[in-house]
Amino acid sequence: MQELGGRVAVVTGAASGIGRAFCQRLAAQGMKIVMADVEGGPLEAAAGALKADGHDVLAVRTDISQADSVSALAERAVDTYGKVHVLCNNAGVFAAGLSWEAPQSDYDWVFGVNVWGVLHGLRSFVPHMLAHGEPSHIVNTASMAAVTTAPFTAPYYMSKAAVFSLSESLYAEMQARSAAIGVSVLCPELVDTAIARGERNRPEHLKRKSGEGDSPERELVEKAIHAATPTGSDPTVLADRAIEAIYENRFYVLAPEGNSWRDACNIRLEDIRLARNPTDALPDP
Ligand SMILES: NC(=O)c1ccc[n+]([C@@H]2O[C@H](COP(=O)([O-])OP(=O)(O)OC[C@H]3O[C@@H](n4cnc5c(N)ncnc54)[C@H](O)[C@@H]3O)[C@@H](O)[C@H]2O)c1
Repeated sequence: MQELGGRVAVVTGAASGIGRAFCQRLAAQGMKIVMADVEGGPLEAAAGALKADGHDVLAVRTDISQADSVSALAERAVDTYGKVHVLCNNAGVFAAGLSWEAPQSDYDWVFGVNVWGVLHGLRSFVPHMLAHGEPSHIVNTASMAAVTTAPFTAPYYMSKAAVFSLSESLYAEMQARSAAIGVSVLCPELVDTAIARGERNRPEHLKRKSGEGDSPERELVEKAIHAATPTGSDPTVLADRAIEAIYENRFYVLAPEGNSWRDACNIRLEDIRLARNPTDALPDP
């Protein structure tokens, strides 16, 4: 897309972290922003801050794991602003554990938000973008987890690999249709956000029963992610990286060369190219 000013963006996970940074940076480009999040209080606070700075924003409480909730979001966005040009399928949650011991509820929760949430976004907004035909762009937030290997995090890593693959399908489909819709897959490295406190949004019926899936490995990863996220990149760096990709119509938005996550990705690609066994390439957290 060459021009963002005056156009409309929808951002999920808009109340915190990378999503909130997306809203700030896209608003600074002159866009009208539809902010969607499952957490009502923080969503209103984030929207209020942007309004106070003179931006045109609409906050819509949305649970992206529910198809009806996302189609209601699309309806509100179109009723309010007429058209949507940028969709940031960004909201996501994290769960760790040994792949065979993590309870089904971990997989259901993480896949509900990280995978079905993105798919619901595509189902609700792609037909609308195709119909209005104006230049548009979709950014799906995956993770460097999608292109690296690590133990003890199967629910999250599987979900991000799925978002990565779905984004590649979408890109190829937009090319095949000669659609005016660009696609990017954003793969952040470690970012300083509230992701380690994501359990706050886990629905009651998907909560772990006491002791379920407990393991020293899960405890290790949970402690590590709590300790490491404050050392991560600033969320606005990720938002700016994605916005540059929108302007340049670039699909892969990876951690920059020289970053340890990018190194681990390069090693994994080489593992696959040579069909050799996976290298333990990620630095210790
Ligand atoms: N922080 C990192 O290190 C990192 C690294 C790679 C990828 N990511 C990805 O970035 C994205 C944003 O996460 P973040 O790091 O900013 O975390 P965050 O917890 O700060 O923000 C996530 C937001 O998503 C919202 N959310 C959770 N469940 C939802 C649901 N069902 N419906 C709607 N909103 C929901 C939360 O309320 C929160 O506001 C996620 O997809 C995450 O997987 C994060």
